[in-house]
Amino acid sequence: MSVENKKILVTGGAGFIGSHIADEALRRGASRVVILDNFVNGKQQNIAHLAGDSRITIESGDVRDFDTVRPLVQQADIVFHEAASKLVVSRTRPRIDLETNIVGTFNVLEAAKDGGQLVVHASTGSVLGSSEGEMHEDHPQNPTTLYGISKGCGERYCRFYAAEFGVRVAMLRYFHVFGPRQDYSGEAGVVSIFLGRVLRGLPPVVFGTGEQIRCFTWVLDDVAANFLLLDRIEGDECLGQVHNVASRTRISVLDLANTIIERFGPKGLEVEFGPPRPGENLRPVPNTERIERLGFKESVSFSEGLEATCEWVKKDLGL
Ligand SMILES: NC(=O)c1ccc[n+]([C@@H]2O[C@H](COP(=O)([O-])OP(=O)(O)OC[C@H]3O[C@@H](n4cnc5c(N)ncnc54)[C@H](O)[C@@H]3O)[C@@H](O)[C@H]2O)c1
Repeated sequence: MSVENKKILVTGGAGFIGSHIADEALRRGASRVVILDNFVNGKQQNIAHLAGDSRITIESGDVRDFDTVRPLVQQADIVFHEAASKLVVSRTRPRIDLETNIVGTFNVLEAAKDGGQLVVHASTGSVLGSSEGEMHEDHPQNPTTLYGISKGCGERYCRFYAAEFGVRVAMLRYFHVFGPRQDYSGEAGVVSIFLGRVLRGLPPVVFGTGEQIRCFTWVLDDVAANFLLLDRIEGDECLGQVHNVASRTRISVLDLANTIIERFGPKGLEVEFGPPRPGENLRPVPNTERIERLGFKESVSFSEGLEATCEWVKKDLGL
């Protein structure tokens, strides 16, 4: 389905990926884009540039609250469900993780039960865990974190609501997304975090040995995958299905740290090492043939994406 002249809801739309989805929906001619975000992690500055667009509405609210979610879903034609509690929160506030990632997803699906909305649900490679080889969509799920469990449960609700109630939902599993607007001061988004530190002359801190492998994926490629999937949901081809979406790049965290130092850091800066993080997936490497068969292609090399992200971090830091 094309988004032209359609009413769109983006939950988590003030966040990193959601704000880029909102931009793209407007660029593609949506008649209305509603952003629902409780701003626990979303930022006004991610969406400030949309303020002058009469098609944008920003709703400060919570996906855990069905009375908030129901009318917004019911007034939409298409829902991009990006709102989620992050991995780091699941370690310290597991109830928030459960309520946001499970109840929040349930609320979106329940609200979409009778309205025929198309829902694209954002999931994560964390539902799988690690494996020596590439992991297909139906690889056994062995999550090593509460976040992986709650997001995996969200996937199950999506599958069930598609099969049992005919909700028109499809899922994308993202893996290590990077790009402009990703928080570089927090604990997620290692590309931005390393850039933020190195640009300030601070060493990047690698947890564990640094041999963990990542498939860093340019944020606009994940955004494009959302719109690609929309076309296919209309044909009912992907209903209740999950698609891994990731770059074919494979880089260790240590190589990433050294590359960032070499390209953007002051002379003499060296990597620092910290203790391994509990539950960290060492090889969350997906097989991406299913989404590639739909036409998914990477639009930039990792090096180009890194350069563009560096420019954004620099600007944000006022450098
Ligand atoms: N960034 C990645 O590498 C990555 C990888 C795999 C999956 N994902 C998934 O992609 C989606 C978007 O992630 P992101 O990286 O943009 O994170 P983000 O934190 O930048 O965006 C999530 C947004 O959801 C909002 N939010 C959180 N709890 C909420 C609630 N209860 N009600 C309303 N809004 C709420 C936050 O304020 C934030 O703006 C999430 O579903 C996440 O699980 C991200």
